[in-house]
Amino acid sequence: RKVLVLHGPNLNLLGVREPQHYGADTLASINARLSEQAQAAGATLEALQSNREFELIERIHATLDDGTDYIIINPAAYTHTSVALRDALAAVKKPFVEVHLSNVHAREAFRHHSFFSDLAVGVICGLGARGYEYALAFVLSQPVKTP
Ligand code: DQA
Repeated sequence: RKVLVLHGPNLNLLGVREPQHYGADTLASINARLSEQAQAAGATLEALQSNREFELIERIHATLDDGTDYIIINPAAYTHTSVALRDALAAVKKPFVEVHLSNVHAREAFRHHSFFSDLAVGVICGLGARGYEYALAFVLSQPVKTP
């Protein structure tokens, strides 16, 4: 099992950025916990954060031949804007879970719509950094589908 965790724009600033919405954990500590969790289950996990739509799209394309069988993605602000990122996920047909630290439905109206949710296996929001761990626990519980 190989899981790819993608973090969208501004998530490199976790820990510093609006902690009332996003908590005090840094991205490095979140990723470290996820790696441990994956390793304990005998799975491989790679995490990538990017502030560039291009880089996220290219990384999604690369899953076609790098053995990735599941994606966990927090598209951050691209959630509400990016048809291109949505299309990339639709193109590679890898199952994915959408995660948001904050409860986007309790915030501004522009955060209520996601270009990803209808394609996602499931969506977790509002549970802070724990949301990634719950998403990964779910992914690790799923049978591996070979393409
Ligand atoms: C976010 C919510 C988005 O609306 C916002 O643009 C983010 C982070 C979250 O994790 O709560 O950057 O995806």
